[in-house]
Amino acid sequence: MTGPLPTPLSTRVVLAGDAAVAEAARCLAAGGLVAFPTETVYGLGADATNGEAIARLYAAKGRPRFNPLIAHVVGLAAARALATFPAAALKLAQAFWPGPLTLVLPKARGCVVAELATAGLDSVAVRVPDHPVAHKILAALDRPVVAPSANRSGHVSPTTAAHVLGDLNGRIDLIVDGGATAVGVESTIVACLREPTLLRPGGAPREAIERVLGRPLADAAAESAAAGKAPLAPGMLASHYAPRTPLRLNAGRVNADEALLAFGRKLPDGAANAAQILNLSARGDLIEAAANLFSHLRALDAAGARTIAVMPVPYDGLGEAINDRLKRAAAPR
Ligand code: TXA
Ligand code: MG
Repeated sequence: MTGPLPTPLSTRVVLAGDAAVAEAARCLAAGGLVAFPTETVYGLGADATNGEAIARLYAAKGRPRFNPLIAHVVGLAAARALATFPAAALKLAQAFWPGPLTLVLPKARGCVVAELATAGLDSVAVRVPDHPVAHKILAALDRPVVAPSANRSGHVSPTTAAHVLGDLNGRIDLIVDGGATAVGVESTIVACLREPTLLRPGGAPREAIERVLGRPLADAAAESAAAGKAPLAPGMLASHYAPRTPLRLNAGRVNADEALLAFGRKLPDGAANAAQILNLSARGDLIEAAANLFSHLRALDAAGARTIAVMPVPYDGLGEAINDRLKRAAAPR
């Protein structure tokens, strides 16, 4: 891909109903992008197990960064296939689901959510939306759906189908119009990785959450200060995925004790002697490259090379987000 989107899509708007739900599920199963209402805001959905669909979702939003996404599921049982629930998280899920609370939890072994959606992290954000249309789409697809708010990056979150159309017309496949959303702000995000920590205030009030927990929530800034890290923006406690093996960016050649993260058909000098080579996209497709980014980094990290040499990746389209993540992964710790 050389532009922000490979082909302009023609966006259909359909009124919520059985036919719309069936069409949405079919479209998602085929790797399409479908906006649908939840009780908080409209989400832009993609099949959470399909890395390339998720890469197209980032491209459609015009996100310069791969922020991790929320996996939406039908209920607690489906959530438990993706994440492990410490006792506090189980209490919160039982009290607030379905509803406007997202839990960030350790990924379960066998979690089917694509690495790109969790930005390579060992945690996953899950939520059970309280909206009949969202629920029916999730049930019909029978897979988790990642869904950021259905707006262009930097714009406000949409609460009607018309907002979504204004922002994303021609960039997504389908909009299911289920009227205005009831809550109007995004879900509250609580991480249950160590102390239950408020990452983003939202539709579920802090007081109600603290009442269920029987103690105050830690806040993200205090947690990161305690961990000796710089305070992070709300919703971004998740620092970023960092391989143990140092990365060497924009490598023009490869040394024998290095692994190579390649891009494109033409490999650099020394590639024949590399300890291991994985190609983000041999055909130079940035959508494919984004879908492979975190899984390839993990695999090369496990190869035990001295460094991972990374070939240059162009900056157009998803290339900006790919380069952003590579730079963070290469930053000294
Ligand atoms: O109400 C909502 O939550 C809406 C509807 C559509 O469900 N969705 C939504 O998604 O607001 P989004 O992508 O706009 O916001 C997701 C937030 C981001 O700030 C992201 O950093 C955070 O969730 N997040 C996701 N996974 C995370 C993780 N593993 N660790 C920390 N933060 C995470
Ligand atoms: Mg958003």
